[in-house]
Amino acid sequence: MLPEWVRIVEVGPRDGLQNEQGAVPAQDKVALVDALVAAGLRHVEVGSFVSPRWVPQMADSAAVFAAIERAPGVTYVALTPNLQGFEAAIAAGASEVAVFAAASESFSQRNINCSIAQSLQRFEPVMAAAAERSIKVRGYVSCVLGCPYEGDIAPAQVRDVANAMLQMGCYEISLGDTVGVGTPEAARRLIETVAQRVPRAQLAGHFHDTYGQAVANIYACLLEGVQVFDSSVAGLGGCPYAPGASGNVATEDVLYLLHGLGISTGVDLDKVVQAGQAIMLALGRHGASRVARARTGVGGPQ
Ligand code: HMG
Ligand code: MG
Repeated sequence: MLPEWVRIVEVGPRDGLQNEQGAVPAQDKVALVDALVAAGLRHVEVGSFVSPRWVPQMADSAAVFAAIERAPGVTYVALTPNLQGFEAAIAAGASEVAVFAAASESFSQRNINCSIAQSLQRFEPVMAAAAERSIKVRGYVSCVLGCPYEGDIAPAQVRDVANAMLQMGCYEISLGDTVGVGTPEAARRLIETVAQRVPRAQLAGHFHDTYGQAVANIYACLLEGVQVFDSSVAGLGGCPYAPGASGNVATEDVLYLLHGLGISTGVDLDKVVQAGQAIMLALGRHGASRVARARTGVGGPQ
């Protein structure tokens, strides 16, 4: 049975813009966050507090947090790999943080320079500091349907990492198809397996759209009882440590799917299309959302 309501976590300003080749001025990032919130998105990942040597595109996240308008009822999330990132995120005024682990050892090494077990250890002080300040922590597991270095990943491995993050105190676990290689039956089996340890109500789907399967994967997850999905306006993004991976599924495309299924989101699709057009104009190229292209006539093969 399909849910009546789905929560979208907009990750474009972080997962999207972290992968841009050129520098994106902070004021364009601020305008994007404000436009997304004005469109009705209530959960927005604004930036990350990671090493600027590793991801220079996010080095100005504190400036972005300082300049955005704060709307009531909106959660402004920061991605943080360790206690140093957590402290910086809180100082910048993040209302929630997200920590990230991987289901693949090779990806963990390349992305955060440590093993899966070490990464979980690194999160312990973050969880403690967050609990002290009553800050909610979201957990990501990357490479849930495949790894750029190891290929197939066993669903049971994802389940165990997801469960470890849940036990540590993450209120929600976002399952990331970082490379965008998943297909619906694999997504369905993944949810079935992870749900042996993590309740479906605490799972989210995070699909990159490299192979054009993300909307189909989301539909498979909806049928499995998942009610939270991450997406990125205009399909921005990719992961610097996942070669070949394209952007997250476009928020516009997810909204079109959900609204077409009669599922409420509280988000205005036309306003998201406008927000996407504005950031793509600033970036000087067309976005990847099929829905935005259909609505505006702007885009087409690059
Ligand atoms: P490391 O080099 O092992 O860290 O990197 P370290 O603890 O040895 O520190 C080295 C230097 O980094 C030091 O500076 C630290 O101060 C600094 P130095 O003394 O050399 O000048 N440093 C920091 N600076 C700012 N903020 C921090 C921080 N921590 C240390 N928080 C580290 C380890 C985790 C820091 C590094 O590997 C890193 O920053 N990785 C981030 C990679 C990243 O952001 N990847 C993209 C996001 S993940 C993703 O996109 C997937 C997701 O979307 C889900 C999906 O799609 O699956 C979430
Ligand atoms: Mg991602």
